[in-house]
Amino acid sequence: MSKVLVLPGDGIGQEIVAQALKVIEYLNKNDSLNMELVHGLVGGIAYDETGSPLPQATLDAAHECDSILLGAVGGYQWEALERGLRPERGLLGLRAEMDLFSNLRPAILYPQLASASTLKEEVVSGLDLMIVRELVSGIYFGQPRGIEIRNGERYGFNSATYSESEIKRIGHSAFKIAQKRDKRVCSVDKANVLEVCELWRDVMIDVAKDYPDVELSHMYVDNAAMQLVRAPKQFDVMVTSNLFGDVLSDCAAMLTGSIGMLPSASLNKDGFGMYEPIHGSAPDIAGQDIANPLATILSVSMMLRYSLDQVSLANKIDSAVNTVLDQGYRTQDIAAKGDSVVGTSKMGDLVVEALQG
Ligand code: IPM
Ligand code: MG
Repeated sequence: MSKVLVLPGDGIGQEIVAQALKVIEYLNKNDSLNMELVHGLVGGIAYDETGSPLPQATLDAAHECDSILLGAVGGYQWEALERGLRPERGLLGLRAEMDLFSNLRPAILYPQLASASTLKEEVVSGLDLMIVRELVSGIYFGQPRGIEIRNGERYGFNSATYSESEIKRIGHSAFKIAQKRDKRVCSVDKANVLEVCELWRDVMIDVAKDYPDVELSHMYVDNAAMQLVRAPKQFDVMVTSNLFGDVLSDCAAMLTGSIGMLPSASLNKDGFGMYEPIHGSAPDIAGQDIANPLATILSVSMMLRYSLDQVSLANKIDSAVNTVLDQGYRTQDIAAKGDSVVGTSKMGDLVVEALQG
């Protein structure tokens, strides 16, 4: 029996998570998944209802559960709030509080969607790379930070910081994942300019000594951005800092045609994980039944694989998604001419039908 905290959040979060719940319900009923669901608030909706984007009740529930399934946070109506109350603080707070330092962002091209990529088919076909992003340190969290008056003008500052141990643990994550894949890690930094990256590179070289079967290479982040669009298939696992990982993972996602297809996992050292689609809350299309729920459904699969030790059910979800794509059903974000365009809810139903086999 596993216990999962469900946090739909804002925007399209509600409708996409509802589809993932259909899948969980089906597996509970028919495949003895035995997942107990606890519902909670995070993000703008949590601010509206409780005055905080990350209420204590949500944190308490997180500590009592085995995993979190999250939709997305954010929306125009909360953008003017002071920084500490904005929806994004809910997400960042959860990451920090649960120490979810290891963020796995796979970019896999579904062959059925090769024509949906803006890149040439031969550049992306067969793409399967994993970005391992450090998620609870670096410039996102470094101190000091702020905006203050200096010399009569406003002055903004953040600190890009990494301790050796923070680099070490994300390095180990990346190498362990590479061992189960093509055994290649590319560490992305800006060591030609930043001291913090010089340390990053040094520590990665040290960590690599524990994994003689894995090949380590290094790349500057500007070159990595270029290589991702030039020849993305050269990568197996990329490991990088919080900010670089944020940028590169959006770029990598788009190689696959739609950011609407990609799940993510954020893990702590005990295997506790928060699972979420890598796209955001998309307030412009919320409530219209057009958002793509597949990234959220695939997030459930990642949860079963990485935290709950239910690999065969994870495979079952993955293959149901494949079946639905094979059948030609698409939400509008991944549709090409001639495809059957379906809405969010219908896509959820189709995946459940495919599960029935
Ligand atoms: C992501 C998002 C978040 C981030 C935002 C919503 C705070 O862009 O998960 O990539 O920057 O980490
Ligand atoms: Mg991002």
